This record gives sequence, C-alpha cells and structure tokens, in this order.
Amino acid sequence: MKRWILVVLFALALAALVVIVGFTQIRVDALQEPGQLETVFATGVKHLLVHWSSREGIPPAPTNLQASVEEGDKLYATDCSMCHGLDGHTPTDSGRWMYPRASDLIAPEVQQYSDRDLFWIVKNGIRLSGMPAFGRVESDEHIWNLVHYVKTLREGAQPESGRAAP
Ligand code: HEC
Repeated sequence: MKRWILVVLFALALAALVVIVGFTQIRVDALQEPGQLETVFATGVKHLLVHWSSREGIPPAPTNLQASVEEGDKLYATDCSMCHGLDGHTPTDSGRWMYPRASDLIAPEVQQYSDRDLFWIVKNGIRLSGMPAFGRVESDEHIWNLVHYVKTLREGAQPESGRAAP
C-alpha cells in the first residue's frame, strides 16, 4: 500500500477518535469531581514538570527564616486565602469549585514539594488551573516569604490573630 494512503487512514482514524472522545468524555463544566485516573495522571505530570522547571533560575532564599515566615503570613492572607482558605486546608467556595480544586496546602503531596518547587509554583502559577502566577505581582523575596509560610501550615493550626480576613 502506498505510504500516503496509510497516512490518510491514520489521520482519519485519529480524527474519528477525537470526535468520539470529544462527544462522550470531555466536558467543559467544573461541577464534576475530577476522576481518579485523571487526578493521578495530572498530578504525576505536574510534579515532574515542576521539579524539572525549578532546576535553575531560583534566586537565593532570605536567611532570616522567622522574619520571612512572619511576612509570608501577612502576604498569604491577601494573596492566597481567597482560594486556599485562611488555614490553607479549608478552601473557600470559589477554590472548592475550581477544576482542578484549589489544593489543600497541608496535604503531604503539597508539603513534600521542595522549597524550590514551591517557589517555582507561586512565581509561575499552574497552567490550565486556577493557580495564578505571582511573578509579576510579588517580588522574589515576597515569594520566598510565602513559601516559608506555606511550609509552616499544619492541621489544626489557628490563623493568628490580627491577620486580615480574606
Ligand atoms: C484564584 C485561586 C487561587 C489563588 C488566589 C491561589 N491559588 Fe494556589 N492553587 C489554586 C488551584 C486551583 C490549585 C490547584 C492546581 C492543580 O491542582 O494543578 C492551586 C495549587 C497550588 C499549589 C500546588 C499544590 C499542588 O497540589 O500541586 C500551591 C503550592 C499553591 N497553590 C500555593 C498558593 C499560594 C502560596 C498562593 C498565594 C500566593 C496561592 N496558591 C493562590 C488556586 C489558587
């Protein structure tokens, strides 16, 4: 058989597959809970890509960790709590109904990211999700403060008094 016939047949088969999958599977709404397969696959790819992307270009972190965490606490309330919730663990209604859902920041999958990975995520955001990029909004130092603060989030920790409401 001529090669071009094979190519056309392959293209037709692919187009048919796209149409079938498109009409039966792919939805554009955010109501449905993301499926297990999709979550496992997307999470695995996300972790790999984040880890790969954060190999270089991450600036040095501020050395005074305690001051950094305190600053991050304040920034978190204005920048992040509107989706992830004040405690990082109880997303707001908007965060809860995004697709994918706003992550639970105290979950082991999130806490096990390295500081560099977290810096990269906050600076660059996560495409095709509600996670915004803060690279044009916050300085590198502020992003480090946010990372250091996120790493202190633990189950049951009370939001400190004086922190602004979302
Ligand atoms: C507009 C809503 C929104 C805001 C504001 C927001 N996030 Fe997110 N964030 C999300 C969503 C949605 C995800 C889930 C992305 C995914 O699952 O791929 C996410 C994911 C993350 C992740 C990755 C967790 C994972 O599961 O891989 C981190 C870390 C994170 N956010 C931290 C922050 C920090 C820190 C701030 C504030 C500087 C912030 N987010 C602000 C919506 C938001």
